[in-house]
Amino acid sequence: MKILVVYSSQTGNTKKLAEAAYEVLPEPKEIYNVKDNPSPDNYDVIIVGFWFKKGKPDPASSEYLAKIKNKKVFLIATHGAAPESEHAKKGMEEAKKMLQDCEILGTFNCQGEVAPQIMQKAASKPTPPEWYKDAPSAKGHPDENDISNLVQKIKQVFS
Ligand SMILES: Cc1cc2nc3c(=O)[nH]c(=O)nc-3n(C[C@H](O)[C@H](O)[C@H](O)COP(=O)(O)O)c2cc1C
Repeated sequence: MKILVVYSSQTGNTKKLAEAAYEVLPEPKEIYNVKDNPSPDNYDVIIVGFWFKKGKPDPASSEYLAKIKNKKVFLIATHGAAPESEHAKKGMEEAKKMLQDCEILGTFNCQGEVAPQIMQKAASKPTPPEWYKDAPSAKGHPDENDISNLVQKIKQVFS
């Protein structure tokens, strides 16, 4: 069972989680940035790490998710919105819909600190996006606790 971890990350939040997951996975395994565009066909299990943009997986991840067909998949998401919010749930559902005939082994999502310039941009809109009110509490995430929760989940699924 060959495992691929593929992630997209602008400011490092999602990368941190993807690397933590990778570390505890059994061999054989490989990890790539989505920019490297590894072929999903070469793997049995694919772990995709993405961040939210406009309430959905970021564009590069969306494109990649749509290419995954008939695989076992574990999804990891980071976002500014609160982890239990409808916004967070909807974004994860959007990701699942992008896959073709895949089995979902599990999901993990947590907040990821939002870059200051993005906070400013969001604040300056006539109606700030719905995740904006939660974003201050994303500061410092993913933290040690988030990482330990993810690692526990990955170990459960892949033991
Ligand atoms: C352009 C842009 C749009 C974003 N849109 C959303 C969004 O719709 N919902 C949300 O919860 N967070 C949103 N965020 C926050 C990021 O998803 C969050 O900070 C994430 O952890 C960034 O991950 P990264 O560090 O791996 O790039 C947005 C961030 C950026 C830069």
